[in-house]
Amino acid sequence: MISFFKKNNPSSNYFPISTDMHSHILPGIDDGSPNVETSIQLVKGLIELGLQRSIATPHVISDVYRNTPETILNALALLRAALQEQQINYRVDAAAEYMMDAAFFEKIERQEPLLCIKDKTILTEFSFGSIPENPKQMSFAILTSGYSPILAHPERYTYFQGNHKYYHLLNDLGFQLQVNLLSFTGHYGAGAEKAAKYIVKNKLCRYLGTDLHHQRHLESLKNGRNVFEALLAGEQWNNFLGE
Ligand SMILES: [Fe+2]
Repeated sequence: MISFFKKNNPSSNYFPISTDMHSHILPGIDDGSPNVETSIQLVKGLIELGLQRSIATPHVISDVYRNTPETILNALALLRAALQEQQINYRVDAAAEYMMDAAFFEKIERQEPLLCIKDKTILTEFSFGSIPENPKQMSFAILTSGYSPILAHPERYTYFQGNHKYYHLLNDLGFQLQVNLLSFTGHYGAGAEKAAKYIVKNKLCRYLGTDLHHQRHLESLKNGRNVFEALLAGEQWNNFLGE
């Protein structure tokens, strides 16, 4: 299995990952970077943090961000061209963050090709507004179509924060859990921080990502140095990295 985690963390580099598999750094197609100039600034910030590669994951949400493989790959081409022009050596690939709404399951049913993080693995998210009615049916539809779902930031959905048993259930249903690094710093509140630590402690976290949208996230990631260092020094975290 390809690992997105650093196996060996040099003491000079406190950042827990070298590949970021969740971000909104592609220009102009969702609520992340609005233009190529901003995208370049975000990439420069990621390089400073010690990252070597990003898999950008623009939102695909019906009626809000109607992205398609075409809109996403066009934005990727724009960013790659600008990076090359400015001689910035950083690898950017693209997938998507699929909202599991009706339009998504229609795509699944029609067997439309989806943009993958790797192999047939896709990044998915639930609505923040209300608890998903039937996650079992959702994972079943995705798995039987040949894809494997990663669930973005399970720690951030407030309806799961009151009952951490949900994380075991989601994992058992086949959702690979991806935690946002900023959740450990308290950036999204105490509930998300507690849930993120629970997910890691219980060895349910399969991926870490920045979910970088804008400069403020970048600043928070830089300011999280002490938190990330403490996590990396912890026994539980080391076990988790060794998986
Ligand atoms: Fe995201």
